[in-house]
Amino acid sequence: MSQTRKKVVLSGMRPTGPLHLGNYVGALRGWVRLQETHKCFFTIVPWHALSSEYQNPKVIKEYTFEVALDWLAAGLDPEKSVLFIQSEVKEHAELHLLLSMITPLPWLERVPTFKEQQQELQNKELNTYGFLGYPLLQTADIIIYKAEVVPVGEDQAFHIELAREIVRRFNRFYGDIFPEPQILLTEVPKLAGTDGRKMSKSYGNAIYLKDSPEIIKKKISPMVTDTRRKRRSDPGEPNDCPVFTLHKAFVPESKREELAAGCRTAAIGCLECKKVVIDALIEEFASFREKRSYFEKHPNIVWEIFEEGNKKAREVTQKTMAEVRQALGLVFPSSHKPTGKV
Ligand code: TRP
Ligand code: SF4
Repeated sequence: MSQTRKKVVLSGMRPTGPLHLGNYVGALRGWVRLQETHKCFFTIVPWHALSSEYQNPKVIKEYTFEVALDWLAAGLDPEKSVLFIQSEVKEHAELHLLLSMITPLPWLERVPTFKEQQQELQNKELNTYGFLGYPLLQTADIIIYKAEVVPVGEDQAFHIELAREIVRRFNRFYGDIFPEPQILLTEVPKLAGTDGRKMSKSYGNAIYLKDSPEIIKKKISPMVTDTRRKRRSDPGEPNDCPVFTLHKAFVPESKREELAAGCRTAAIGCLECKKVVIDALIEEFASFREKRSYFEKHPNIVWEIFEEGNKKAREVTQKTMAEVRQALGLVFPSSHKPTGKV
């Protein structure tokens, strides 16, 4: 055991349903490794989902369950990490409220995802207080654990930068309570979906972790490859091939280079090349599928695991919030006495 204190990691995912390969490569796979070296908190965040799904909130619980299954099957381990559901740890909401008092509106208005998402999701009314506060709630999620490291993709970089600014402002007003969280960029080649565009649930082009071997085959076999390869005898360029983005994530480098060379000389055909990545995926997710179907049949075990995590999370957040209330001078004689008497 190392003598130095393990750094605290926190990351989160919105419950948007079953996870796809892009979510795995961009987040989950790295988190599973981080468990060995860091004190990790991983949270599913229903309140963030609610900020855009408030008209149809009933799906959030089901989606939370799907994400929970994927996490456990992929190897997030409740013995090593704290796995919990954000909205079951109410202190996040209290800290979010307090942070909202010190956050200048322009800081939130200039967050690029705010305007972008409003543009992209025109069918939803996202000019709401809650949606504007999305990155501030994320800040609360992070700093309430005094997290030092936040593994996220490039798309979240601005949110973490905001969290750092909020921490500086908070500490300046009330004393040194929170560390500035650092971003740990998970840089990954963008995975192409089955239509060649970026893999995304909303495009309907995703390959899911829970997909069976048959479905994996069915999805990848007809995928468009480098358009130079009209005939089997035409050489191609792997870096212009959507399928090869999957090779980059799932096929070991030596094998991959062999395939790349074969593509450039037309020594191999696309079918053969695709078969390699199909087999690699089927293999990589074999034990995943077993574990997932076990947990799927035992939902009580899944919810118990997460309730255990919620409890551990609450212990930490209650401690942090006691400090925060103290720092703001918001501790009253009757506060938090079990009897409720003054
Ligand atoms: N906004 C993140 C995303 O969409 C999800 C998230 C919520 C998160 N709270 C977090 C990520 C805290 C990291 C840390 O991916
Ligand atoms: Fe893509 Fe492989 Fe075909 Fe080359 S051989 S175009 S990398 S599928």
